Amino acid sequence: MPTLLSEAAALEAEIIALRRDIHRHPELGRSEIATSVLVERTLNALGIETRRIADTGIVGELRGAEPGPIVALRADMDALPIQEQTGLAFASETPGAMHACGHDLHTAALLGAAKLLAARRDSIHGAVRFLFQPDEEGDGGAQRMIDAGCMEGVSAVFGAHVAPELPVGTIGVRFGKAYAASNPFDIALRGRSAHGAEPHLGADAIVAASALVGAIQTLVSREISPLDPAVISIGSFHAGTARNIIADEAHLSGIIRCFGAETRAHLTRRLTALAEGVAAAHGVQADVRIQWGYSGIINDPTMTALVRDSAAGLLGQGAVTVEQEPSLTTEDFGAFLEHAPGSFWHIGVGRPGSPCVPLHNPRFNPDESALRFAAALHAQVAMDALSHLSKS
Ligand code: NI
Repeated sequence: MPTLLSEAAALEAEIIALRRDIHRHPELGRSEIATSVLVERTLNALGIETRRIADTGIVGELRGAEPGPIVALRADMDALPIQEQTGLAFASETPGAMHACGHDLHTAALLGAAKLLAARRDSIHGAVRFLFQPDEEGDGGAQRMIDAGCMEGVSAVFGAHVAPELPVGTIGVRFGKAYAASNPFDIALRGRSAHGAEPHLGADAIVAASALVGAIQTLVSREISPLDPAVISIGSFHAGTARNIIADEAHLSGIIRCFGAETRAHLTRRLTALAEGVAAAHGVQADVRIQWGYSGIINDPTMTALVRDSAAGLLGQGAVTVEQEPSLTTEDFGAFLEHAPGSFWHIGVGRPGSPCVPLHNPRFNPDESALRFAAALHAQVAMDALSHLSKS
């Protein structure tokens, strides 16, 4: 029987055409209209039943010849509000929107995998569920898909992201901590204004906020283990209207990024306590608002080993990098992992010898030959996970 990799190579032109079509017509989160129609049409043509979910999301289900567990594979479909500057023949035709995070490749590769798996339907025991997710960059399409039931009956879930720092033809896996939990926050400090020459008659919000910015630096450095990666960054600080007026308000905005529920609970609770304490010490009021962003990704060890071994079998041992360092960026794939064990892996799209253009850059131009590796590995992981689950 030909390997999934040789079958994927035979499909390469078709997968690249899908990717270019999606790339040419990028759609921002919650408006993936044409993209979801393309996904639906492609899956239906393979005999895969689909349903629409969470507005622009699509769930496809490939049922094998025999009953068995369900393995889910996820791709995100949304683009970014960036004006493309690649100059490619298939560059975005939508002003101000671009697939600069590779979600066009994610969608096309998973459609390629659907085709590979549909051809093996007879040897599938169980089902493969395809999750085409809207709005990863925005509000969390994953959670809305889950709320609508996409994880019901799923025993394992896998997803992948392009990685420009890994050369094309290689795959990266991370055991355990992979992507951070995110908590954006806003703090308003309210004092009392007075003439700049008579500060004792007011309550200075700028002095209080300055002390708070300094104090916040101690939360990670003094309260979190140095072996547990975490960061708190203040990205905006606005206060005051004129040089001779004591500011009655100051506004700080920032993000907390860390791993695991415990560290997250500690930092969010302590940020609030610290802001209220520093404010009280300066005679001003603090209003702290912390949002509950993505919960991050902690990969399951068994499922990550399965991806590593599937990739090594398909591409050779040398093509697999076990990445040691987690990233403090975030990803909403973690929401699926709250409902089933799984793993999120990386597809090398770097061009050897060329400088690495990072994600979210208007010149991001991944190597498309990665598509056949990604499609083949998605399919291999699904087959291997189904056989692993039926044995356990
Ligand atoms: Ni992305």
